[in-house]
Amino acid sequence: MSEFLLELFYIVGCVTFIIGLKMLSSPDKAREGNTIAAAGMILAIIGTILFHKTETGEGISNHAWIVAGLAVGTIIGYLMATRVQMTSMPQMVSFFNGTGGATSALIACMEFFASDSGDWGFLLVAYLGIVIGTVTFSGSMVAYGKLDDKIKDIGGRFLTYLNWLFLAVIIILMGLGVFSPDTLGQTTGWILLALSLFYGVLFVMPIGGADMPVVIALLNSLSGIAGAFGGLIYGNRIMLIGGILVGASGLILTFLMCKAMNRSLLNVLIGGFGGGAAGGGAAAGDQVAKEISHNDTAILCAYASKVCIVPGYGLAVAQAQHVCHDFEKRLSDQGVEVYYAIHPVAGRMPGHMNVLLAEADVPYPKLVEMDDANEMMAQTDVCIIVGANDVVNPAAENDPGSPIYGMPVIKVWEAKNVVVMKRSMRPGYAGIENPLFFHERTKMLFGDAKDTLGKLVSEIKTL
Ligand code: TAP
Repeated sequence: MSEFLLELFYIVGCVTFIIGLKMLSSPDKAREGNTIAAAGMILAIIGTILFHKTETGEGISNHAWIVAGLAVGTIIGYLMATRVQMTSMPQMVSFFNGTGGATSALIACMEFFASDSGDWGFLLVAYLGIVIGTVTFSGSMVAYGKLDDKIKDIGGRFLTYLNWLFLAVIIILMGLGVFSPDTLGQTTGWILLALSLFYGVLFVMPIGGADMPVVIALLNSLSGIAGAFGGLIYGNRIMLIGGILVGASGLILTFLMCKAMNRSLLNVLIGGFGGGAAGGGAAAGDQVAKEISHNDTAILCAYASKVCIVPGYGLAVAQAQHVCHDFEKRLSDQGVEVYYAIHPVAGRMPGHMNVLLAEADVPYPKLVEMDDANEMMAQTDVCIIVGANDVVNPAAENDPGSPIYGMPVIKVWEAKNVVVMKRSMRPGYAGIENPLFFHERTKMLFGDAKDTLGKLVSEIKTL
């Protein structure tokens, strides 16, 4: 009976994961989807505590330890999730990926070192769990450090070759451990653990700049795959299905990110793109950017028929989403048609702009995806760029020498007027010059995005 009940809890849990994941793909249902999947996970945990039996028919007895672990994890997770700044979300995702990987590696280690099985299937799964879990852990911690500016990029061909060498040694050692388990015995596990720890660090170290989102998505996928191996070791269906879902969705996201940046995954992993190099792109030379006042910007927008707002990382830094919505509402009240053009990698995490604007209650139909926005751009009277830079850089379209050449961008320069809101002429995340600032139709409106938008709202009120 308890076996039946456990399976029932697991099936319900799995169904909630799938429903939750599906709902996560729509911004207005994402919160609900997350709650449903979390409820399914709680159900699976309760089911396991109540109904799991070992091979000898014993139930789980160490309840105090389990409850203590759950309490510590819940408190830490709650505090981190409620206190994290929107701009630090990628770091938190990276940290959580790392802890997921570490957990799976610990499961694989415990089972491997406690067993003297020579079964090749068990050994293969255990080694894969150790290697993938550990690489996810150390790689995610380095990614966390890099995103938080605590670790600097170290690149170069040498590191790329060293990475391939490490990977080859790990694969050969796993092969030896699986097909000739007596050669090194359990030492294989220790060596793999140490090598994977180093490999995770070396693997993420040379990847920098604009490629970090791809790495985070890839590490997220790896944390799921490592979890799935944990499920295989324990013969636990919910861990297996949960792991596969995370692994598959992370991989899909990885490839979507690569597509959004026009890079192949291999190129991201060995390319060493970004990292704050100031070169590339059209040099500013003796070109001078033209400035515009708040008053003129307000008049330009208020008397336009169609205005496009392109939000970027600066909007998130300035926490200007609410005042931006206010600005958009004021224009709409004046009869102006306003839409937001959303680039898939604007900001610092997938869906960053969607989340920010949803937080400010911007109606979802006002958000237009890049391709559609590009089609509407020529009919747009004014394009207001709020703290975006790389995602509106024309060098991606027309400068084959630029590091971001080929990356799809929002073609804001096709609008009749362009106003760029930022604090200075400094480059964006990719560290490259933006010729848009010197374009004949572009005017610069310098200042903090929140402050500037606030002033524009006040100016519009007086018109
Ligand atoms: P960026 O190219 O990073 O440009 C942001 C601009 O915002 C900067 O040029 C900065 O100029 C301005 N800014 C900063 N603080 C501001 C403030 N308080 N008020 C007004 N402006 C402010 O941003 P983007 O166009 O959104 O492009 C995103 C970049 O990040 C891409 O290269 C992308 O590949 C990369 N990336 C994306 C992700 C994901 S998944 N979205 C993750 C990691 C990296 P000033 O300093 O002059 O103000």
